[in-house]
Amino acid sequence: MKKTVLNVMAAVLCGLAAAGSALAADGFTADRHAAAGMKCETCHKSGTPQPGARVKKDVCKGCHDPAELAKKTEKLSPNPHYNHLGDVSCTDCHRGHQPSRLMCNDCHQFDLKVK
Ligand code: HEC
Ligand code: HEC
Ligand code: HEC
Ligand code: HEC
Repeated sequence: MKKTVLNVMAAVLCGLAAAGSALAADGFTADRHAAAGMKCETCHKSGTPQPGARVKKDVCKGCHDPAELAKKTEKLSPNPHYNHLGDVSCTDCHRGHQPSRLMCNDCHQFDLKVK
């Protein structure tokens, strides 16, 4: 009896934690878009996003023109939007629901922060 109640509670808590990871207003890229009034479908085109869902860079580019981006960050050294790798996936740096990271630093040691 007691065990069943505990199991149910654990299931409810896990459910809450899973929902929270996508919806929490904690400042990851997806949350900031949501705060600006954009819905899940803004990035996830088809249906309810499932575990393992990814977003293609063409979706991001539909709203953020790469040439304009390169101009906006031209004062940063190095410019994260104009580099020898060319067309890097946006989410290699600006991750949806996790802290962002500068993928360049897999090989370099640049002092650049990504929101
Ligand atoms: C700004 C674009 C953006 C918005 C808006 C967005 N997401 Fe995402 N989502 C992503 C990206 C990018 C990924 C790929 C994994 C990552 O970078 O965190 C992702 C991955 C996911 C995943 C899979 C996570 C995994 O690793 O298994 C789920 C589930 C998800 N999103 C749910 C949602 C829900 C629910 C909403 C609306 C509340 C939402 N997303 C809004 C960009 C977005
Ligand atoms: C429906 C249009 C739309 C889509 C799709 C979209 N964005 Fe945005 N994004 C915006 C708007 C509007 C803003 C706020 C104004 C600005 O900074 O351009 C913004 C802001 C940003 C910012 C800077 C502000 C911040 O707080 O982070 C980043 C970084 C960003 N978007 C990355 C992405 C990435 C990565 C994707 C794809 C996973 C994406 N966006 C998809 C419309 C969009
Ligand atoms: C190599 C890492 C990296 C990649 C790849 C990358 N960005 Fe960025 N981005 C940055 C950094 C660093 C900044 C400056 C700090 C910040 O705003 O996060 C930035 C800033 C931005 C901004 C805010 C610009 C401003 O000043 O208003 C937007 C919007 C943005 N990125 C969107 C994108 C989109 C869309 C893509 C894919 C086409 C992309 N980024 C690819 C690292 C990256
Ligand atoms: C897979 C490894 C790798 C990744 C990831 C990578 N680079 Fe490089 N990068 C190199 C190599 C190799 C060189 C040439 C050797 C050198 O000069 O250090 C180089 C050279 C450079 C240079 C000229 C030399 C210097 O250090 O000033 C710049 C600037 C640069 N990369 C920027 C970037 C940026 C911005 C990113 C992320 C968008 C990036 N790199 C991602 C491997 C990488």
